[in-house]
Amino acid sequence: MFTVQIVDGQWKDAVFACDGQESLLDAARKQGIKISFGCRGGGCGMCKVKVQAGRFERGVSSKAVLPDEERVLNYTLACKTYPRSNLCVSMEAGDT
Ligand code: FES
Repeated sequence: MFTVQIVDGQWKDAVFACDGQESLLDAARKQGIKISFGCRGGGCGMCKVKVQAGRFERGVSSKAVLPDEERVLNYTLACKTYPRSNLCVSMEAGDT
């Protein structure tokens, strides 16, 4: 089990658990932290987050919504991201 700390925005300093099998998006929402999402399939980009620290694995996602120049800066899609260590992330709050 890994811990994920949100470092800015409405949910600044919130911490939630993620076991590495479920996505960041699902783990956050299960624990009451609402972050934006649309498709849950890596195609809309609404769940884009930036990992400030830690290791993670990306599932398949569209290069149209997550181009290479953003990938190298550690942007990722929460619906397709699985922690491989504790993480610190920047996340936009959502109400969906
Ligand atoms: S919810 Fe659409 S890309 Fe993650």
